[in-house]
Amino acid sequence: MSTESTQREKIRVQGVYKSFATKKGTVQVLDGVNLSVREGEFLAIVGPSGCGKSTLLNCMAGFERISQGSIQIDGVEVQHPDPKRVFVFQETGIFPWLSVWDNVGFGVQGLGYEAKHEHVMKYIRLVGLDGFEKSLPAELSGGMKQRVEFARALAVEPDVLYLDEPFGALDAFTRIEMRREIVRIWRETGKTCILVTHDVAEALELADRVAIMTRRPAVVHSVMEVDRPRPRDSDDPAFREWKDQIFSILGVERSV
Ligand SMILES: Nc1ncnc2c1ncn2[C@@H]1O[C@H](COP(=O)(O)OP(=O)(O)OP(=O)(O)O)[C@@H](O)[C@H]1O
Ligand SMILES: [Mg+2]
Repeated sequence: MSTESTQREKIRVQGVYKSFATKKGTVQVLDGVNLSVREGEFLAIVGPSGCGKSTLLNCMAGFERISQGSIQIDGVEVQHPDPKRVFVFQETGIFPWLSVWDNVGFGVQGLGYEAKHEHVMKYIRLVGLDGFEKSLPAELSGGMKQRVEFARALAVEPDVLYLDEPFGALDAFTRIEMRREIVRIWRETGKTCILVTHDVAEALELADRVAIMTRRPAVVHSVMEVDRPRPRDSDDPAFREWKDQIFSILGVERSV
């Protein structure tokens, strides 16, 4: 059991260029990015700070227009945001004045009360928050808030999940717990997941494949297959070797 994904291509990023006009002139961020994401896979994207990882994700989600090239999901060009693709933001984006139930149900439309309740509770249970549906975010821990965020994203039933540094705001213990949880949720739901992280160890622990971006103007340098069963052991000797390879591509000396 090395990977849960099929070989079918879900997302195709082809020759993507993206620049921003700023007061100081044009900033070239993406410089011909190619990337193919398989249906149901867990793909991590790593790269130096400021290289354009979030920009790429924003383009893939339709929040930013690309300057040149093509991004397709299921063969359809991405031109605007679509609720079938959802972001889990780096910082928690839940509404503090709404209960867990209301937060999770926020984007759920077109269902009567009974059906909506069933639906919302299904996702509250999936993330392990049953019993807390009436709680307000202020009454929850950081990890629990993040579970609400995942449930809210999943309740809209997107088939692709984009996670941009989702664990950044969490303490070390909660981060370990949420990493485990995201793998479980990914397996149970069969979503295609794309995780942007600056943490190479995290990418190797979670992903089927790791795409490595270069400095800006960025391309995807290579995509590494992480052919290891889960749960993964961070002391696995193969990880050391893969980490070294990734760090040398990123052009940094490994300190640990
Ligand atoms: N709306 C914008 N207008 C102008 N420049 C932008 C805009 N968005 C991003 N940039 C620039 O594009 C580059 C890439 O930014 P981006 O946020 O995509 O990098 P990143 O790889 O996600 O960085 P980090 O690891 O710090 O999150 C940066 O130089 C940034 O200043
Ligand atoms: Mg970023």
